[in-house]
Amino acid sequence: MPVDQGLRLAESVSETRQWDRLMELARIGAIPGDGVNRQALTALDRQARRLMIAWAEEAGATVSVDDAANLWFRVEGRIPGATPLLTGSHMDSQPAGGRFDGIYGVMAGLEILCALKDSGLTLDRPLEVVAWTNEEGSRFAPGCMGSMAWAGTKPLAAFAETRDAEGIRFADALAEQLAAEADLPRRPLGGQAHAYIEAHIEQGPKLETEALDIGVVTGIQGSRWLTVTITGASAHAGTTPVSLRRDAMQATMRAIAALNTLTADPTDVLRFTVGSLTVEPGSSNSVAGMVRFTIDLRHPDAVVLAAIGDAVAATVAEAALPCVATIEERFSAAPLDFDADLVTAVREAAETLGQSWSLMPSGAFHDAQLVAGAVPSAMIFVPSRAGISHNPAEFTSAAQLAAGTRVLAAALASQSRV
Ligand code: GLV
Ligand code: MN
Ligand code: MN
Ligand code: MN
Repeated sequence: MPVDQGLRLAESVSETRQWDRLMELARIGAIPGDGVNRQALTALDRQARRLMIAWAEEAGATVSVDDAANLWFRVEGRIPGATPLLTGSHMDSQPAGGRFDGIYGVMAGLEILCALKDSGLTLDRPLEVVAWTNEEGSRFAPGCMGSMAWAGTKPLAAFAETRDAEGIRFADALAEQLAAEADLPRRPLGGQAHAYIEAHIEQGPKLETEALDIGVVTGIQGSRWLTVTITGASAHAGTTPVSLRRDAMQATMRAIAALNTLTADPTDVLRFTVGSLTVEPGSSNSVAGMVRFTIDLRHPDAVVLAAIGDAVAATVAEAALPCVATIEERFSAAPLDFDADLVTAVREAAETLGQSWSLMPSGAFHDAQLVAGAVPSAMIFVPSRAGISHNPAEFTSAAQLAAGTRVLAAALASQSRV
């Protein structure tokens, strides 16, 4: 599509329609402080998807769902059989999440479907908008299950036995979702796309601090998710001498302190987070017999990430003595550089639309990191107020969101020629 048509498509993006719809979606699973709790494969997730489906149908898209419950909206292009352009993100939220993480990228795609309809423009290629299943990984770990299964990085079956905090199997939650959406046509899991561009809030402070409109995302740092289980022996809190205890909680505190030393980084590039802790029996007058905690480790350099991640097991084992530590790796994603030509296309789209921009890496992982294994991919960031995300206070203005969607429209249009 010539540049002027890309501009016309961008101009047809409606700031108010996009904002109003995001606010309507934010009522589904609303929590105090403007937040959202709408985790993957829940009834609230289904309710939000139904609303999005209705809007997509109104925009003239055909709707389908695949075996991973990834939700697809498609409009045809001018050239029959051309490989589609792909955009999207995720609709699931963190347990105490905001109104924009993920859902913005799906809404931006939907808004472009609406802009195509309103403008009467047709891309050469079909355009598909996808809502990937379970990006957050907060209910069922790891994250990015839907995009991982689609890209073929891991088979869907690998996640079947994963359980949420209530003991519900991922396979059962997925089956429930697919049954609730059995009226939708089923499409095969996997496929081809000419290019994937995902719009997302930055979730960090760079764009706001530098007063920029658009982040042209160059790549994503690597992540490793580990689960550590420390086993001691449960005992009576009043009667058991310290010398006879194998206290899993004390061992955990030593282990985390040792990990803080291992991961100390004066350059503040390495990210180390212990975000979840389970204690058994979890009784105030019993010594802990077992503690399980999660580690989220991130770094842009694969060598550093490998070295630090691989050192976790020995560090924890030594610090936890006389308790016993075991480690399970639940997820890893290598640092990734996005497709150079597509990054250039995003930058040029921002320039054409008169938006200020900066090249930047992503600190958060995203579905694009997985999709990039199968399809040339890139991302567009819009500012996050005070850099806050994974928090109800997450905020991006209607105008900032619309600017990102316009850049997405122009960037997709630039990739449309067959
Ligand atoms: C995704 O939500 C991440 O943790 O980066
Ligand atoms: Mn997200
Ligand atoms: Mn998130
Ligand atoms: Mn995310």
